[in-house]
Amino acid sequence: MNDYSAATTALRLTRPDDWHLHLRDGEALRAVVGASAAQFARAIVMPNLRPPVATVDDARAYRQRILDALPAGARFTPLMTLYLTDRTSADEIRRARDSGFVHAVKLYPAGATTNSDAGVTDLRRTWPVLDAMQQAQMPLLVHGEVTDPDVDVFDREAAFIDRVLIPLRRDFPALRVVFEHVTTREAVQYVEHAGGAIGATITPQHLLYDRNALFAGGLRPHRYCLPVLKRATHRRALVEAATGGNPRFFLGTDSAPHAAHAKEQACGCAGCYTAPHAIESYATVFEAAGALDRLEAFASFHGADFYRMPRNTECIELRRERWTVPSELPFDDDVIVPLCARETIPWKLASIGSRSIQ
Ligand code: NCD
Ligand code: ZN
Ligand code: ZN
Repeated sequence: MNDYSAATTALRLTRPDDWHLHLRDGEALRAVVGASAAQFARAIVMPNLRPPVATVDDARAYRQRILDALPAGARFTPLMTLYLTDRTSADEIRRARDSGFVHAVKLYPAGATTNSDAGVTDLRRTWPVLDAMQQAQMPLLVHGEVTDPDVDVFDREAAFIDRVLIPLRRDFPALRVVFEHVTTREAVQYVEHAGGAIGATITPQHLLYDRNALFAGGLRPHRYCLPVLKRATHRRALVEAATGGNPRFFLGTDSAPHAAHAKEQACGCAGCYTAPHAIESYATVFEAAGALDRLEAFASFHGADFYRMPRNTECIELRRERWTVPSELPFDDDVIVPLCARETIPWKLASIGSRSIQ
């Protein structure tokens, strides 16, 4: 896979996986799961439902609801996670390891993001659990922002590294950690240089946009997510990390659907809906960086390798075809506005399977 140019009209990749995805539940789940299944073979499914997916029994039931909501014929495996709370027990971690379908545990600092009020209030309370995770080699996925209201919202990720992540990894050096949806140069540098087992997911929105995009011609609620978009220098650091070939960085869309009305209001929800055009968005970023030859490793190899799962054997093909992202899509009783609504994307998913397309 090399020698890509503007004359390249088709791109064939090993089928990718999404290592950070919100699928919601009920009608919302039914509205969005097909979009992810149309692209990705597997996805790490976030547990921030209300109430949260906190036990192996919860995760088993949620997994079944996801499978039941899949469109007929879809080939998609949900990889479940547990929501770490102050009350999670070490026994639950051992049950998770033995379950075969729970693949990670998610740390939401209480109050950091959407549906995080059941999150951890003091990490010291979870020490027996972290110890059990370290022994079980169960990855800890972190929403890496401090919640201290005295810390500027744009600095919360960098503060998390110093105040939480470095001490945590000193105390649990063998704990496998994924720094989710990194948004800053500081996070990229930390992941590049830290010892031990660490990975990081990078979203399409943080690769495509900087914080100016939040205010382009007016307030743009559909580009609002947490951690919030940062300055252009940080976006460039993320693009270099994603396209640079370092196996610690891998694809995680953080596709986080909210109904249009929930985002377009006085206090709008955080989360961008990227699932319908996720792989095409990444392809656009990689092409602009002159790194299309590195897309496959970022999208299809690095995450599977980190999670110690087999790489996929199916392929997908993207075709060079300009298309306009819809202004809205059906969502439960409402509509949802995807990221990049009304914008043009130069690549389009053409097929999945081992067949070639004409
Ligand atoms: C996510 C959501 O809506 O569940 N929102 C977001 O802005 N990213 C939660 C999260 O991933 O932090
Ligand atoms: Zn998060
Ligand atoms: Zn998320």
